[in-house]
Amino acid sequence: MKKRVFSGIQPSGILHVGNYLGAIRNWVELLDTHDCIFCIVDLHAITVPYEPAEMPGRILDAAAGYIACGVDPARCTIFVQSDVHEHTELAWYFNTVIPVAYLERMTQYKEKSAQFSEHVTMGLLDYPVLQAADILLYKAEIVPVGEDQVQHIELARDVARKFNNRYGGIFPEPAARVGSGARILGLDGQAKMSKTLDNYIAVTETPEEIWRKLSTAVTDPARKRRTDRGNPDVCNIFSLHRLFSSAGEQARVAEGCRTAGIGCLDCKRILADNIARELAPVRERHAALKGKRDFIEGVLREGACRCGEIARGTIREAKAAMGLLR
Ligand code: AMP
Ligand code: TRP
Repeated sequence: MKKRVFSGIQPSGILHVGNYLGAIRNWVELLDTHDCIFCIVDLHAITVPYEPAEMPGRILDAAAGYIACGVDPARCTIFVQSDVHEHTELAWYFNTVIPVAYLERMTQYKEKSAQFSEHVTMGLLDYPVLQAADILLYKAEIVPVGEDQVQHIELARDVARKFNNRYGGIFPEPAARVGSGARILGLDGQAKMSKTLDNYIAVTETPEEIWRKLSTAVTDPARKRRTDRGNPDVCNIFSLHRLFSSAGEQARVAEGCRTAGIGCLDCKRILADNIARELAPVRERHAALKGKRDFIEGVLREGACRCGEIARGTIREAKAAMGLLR
């Protein structure tokens, strides 16, 4: 029996290189060895202010983005969270075992309630409980995510443990799987790459756009002139080389940087070419999927059907354990 993997991304517009390296590239690695379920978490996306009219398009675009990045629907299950009602049902059961204090200390909750101070809702506080329900509904054991989600996976473990202690061992304790691109910085070299900060490269960008964005990106701040020697270990551009360039090329670039043999622009040119090469098939597949709405809807329908079946089984078990089945 293959181990089950679950992960999700919010349909919040564009997929960027942080999502790609932190999450999706690791999903693709698991396709053949694991039973993979990947979710478009629209119920999480509505915990911050959003435009309802844009949501259907964003959900379809997220699905197209997953598939374009290589998340092959023939080898995994892709579905939309709100299509399987059991997510919110299980989240409610979990709400009765998890202390409020656990949620109030979540880093993402603190950050988002500062960012959206006019909109600090129960949904925002409860976000990690819904995430625990996403994972545990399928009894998934492995959750491939970026570093920022590790605290939420720990909470899902707490939820599983507390539920099991009270009602009997139903849920496995899931583990986060954090790959080499755990925390990608944005082009400013300061903050995490994210949509809201506009410091990202989207996975669908053209080679020209990639070059335009990289050409002004921050490098080793101490290297001010072309003739200065640089330090690749503190350069955000070099950290991207580590994820997109061959070992040999990394060694040549690092050496060139340390000896001032190459300038920052030369180094960026090589990186831009390598990113463009890796993302070219993503962009092409994404463009090809534009006219294939029926195909995407079919993938999502099939995914919801399979997930609904598993979910109903788990809910039955949970209800039985909780004394809610007659
Ligand atoms: P989000 O876009 O916040 O729904 O994140 C979706 C997935 O991408 C999660 O697994 C995140 O941990 C991951 N992710 C988002 N931004 C980054 C980043 N800058 N570096 C690494 N992983 C990221
Ligand atoms: N909170 C995650 C994020 O913003 C998205 C998410 C929702 C998720 N449910 C999940 C990730 C379950 C992994 C497993 O990135």
